[in-house]
Amino acid sequence: MTYTDRPLVRALTQFHKRAPMSLHVPGHKNGALSSLPDGLRAALPYDVTELEGLDDLHEPHGAIEEAQQKLAALYGSHRSFFLVNGSTVGNLAMIYATCRRGETVIVQRNAHKSVFHAIELAGVHPVFVSPDWQETVQTPGLVSVEQIEEALHLFPQAKAVVLTYPTYYGTAEGGLEEVIQLCHAKGIPVLVDEAHGAHFVLGDPFPRSALQMGADVVVHSAHKSLPAMTMGSFLHIRSDLVDSERIAHALHMLQSSSPSYLLMASLDDARAYAETYNTEDTVHFLAKRQAFITQLEDIPGLQPVEMDDPLKLTLRVPGYSGFEIQQCLDAEGLYVELADLYQVLVILPLVKRVSNYSFDLVCAKIKRALSQLAPSVKENMGGSQPIVRNEMISQLAYLPAQLADMKSEWISYKDAEGRVAAASVIPYPPGIPLLLGGETVKEGHIRSIEELIAGHAKFQGAIQVEDEQILVVKDGVK
Ligand SMILES: Cc1ncc(COP(=O)(O)O)c(C=O)c1O
Repeated sequence: MTYTDRPLVRALTQFHKRAPMSLHVPGHKNGALSSLPDGLRAALPYDVTELEGLDDLHEPHGAIEEAQQKLAALYGSHRSFFLVNGSTVGNLAMIYATCRRGETVIVQRNAHKSVFHAIELAGVHPVFVSPDWQETVQTPGLVSVEQIEEALHLFPQAKAVVLTYPTYYGTAEGGLEEVIQLCHAKGIPVLVDEAHGAHFVLGDPFPRSALQMGADVVVHSAHKSLPAMTMGSFLHIRSDLVDSERIAHALHMLQSSSPSYLLMASLDDARAYAETYNTEDTVHFLAKRQAFITQLEDIPGLQPVEMDDPLKLTLRVPGYSGFEIQQCLDAEGLYVELADLYQVLVILPLVKRVSNYSFDLVCAKIKRALSQLAPSVKENMGGSQPIVRNEMISQLAYLPAQLADMKSEWISYKDAEGRVAAASVIPYPPGIPLLLGGETVKEGHIRSIEELIAGHAKFQGAIQVEDEQILVVKDGVK
């Protein structure tokens, strides 16, 4: 495999060549004291700290600075950062640093929980904009220009717009560029959680990145689509509307003072992977992908559905929920990204010509797994739309800070209509709250919880699935 220069990988390799002896943290002393299995222990000699020649993430003047500059050059940003706590910390920092306590912020409702945690941390007043419903995958999609226009008209005091692009399922484009232009015309920065789009920098056939469309701050989970280690992410700033020093300060506050060098090296490597991804690699990826889809289409009952992002694919089997399909695939040792009531979501590997990945084997396993499904007499999975559709723009009944002082009680979710949720109910994955703490429970929420429980979905947050209860504000019937 050819690599462009990877400054941090290079610095770590050179350091390792010196056969260093550890009188410093971490306590495993280059792996010598570790009883981890060999495969895990093998990486520990590189799990070091801010030593000579290895720079400092929070005050970069050497290899890390150089690596981050290369990252900024690739993405065309003014400034880019390595993140060691996922897009989670990117979302926290970009919102915390851009907005002041008490300010109004317009937020796409189908955001990851980290966006809602950022709202709580920053103490801002969120105005939620519900996305369009996406019939193809039966999930919430992107917000429209008209919705953002309406929100800005109703809340002209808004100080930022926080969007999620693409969706978890790989829906992209839409009217994002127009939304950004609209906001910029009013001097409002657009902050984009582009966790699932780190590879959009590769260009056609991948969708355009929000950065290219003019977004002010963009966060990428490099670990989701590029070959970075879990938690490895990027934050990019390309704006005169936000203060990059405040974002740097927020990252300093919110991230560990001992960031993992393994993780940061993998970010340097992921950047190099994207930088060297060439036209032949794209042609190879597309050919492999197309052959894979064609084979899938030949499997009886299986319906692959392509998304805007060619790296994402959903698989359906009429009459079966995604959770049932997932169970079959798990039994074959095939693990998908997520399941929902309708489908499973697959993230394809961003292969290069030189990559060693057997799509054929995956296809054979899918075929074997699905042959275990008995012919279904069930109708296609039905299901409701979890977002309450008549309320395209909504606010919380209580802000997180108000909720903190309120008493709460567990009640049957079936009796919760009109009550205020005391904390969020989050189907996980994807980690998009179905119900937010402080949000009034609507009939649509109850229907969705019912369907997800029946489908054996996994949850995080204020729900006791076995008792069918959720946590609501005690005296706060609204
Ligand atoms: C849209 C979105 N944003 C943010 C995150 C958080 O990313 P990370 O796991 O890198 O912290 C996720 C995780 O799934 C996500 O789907």
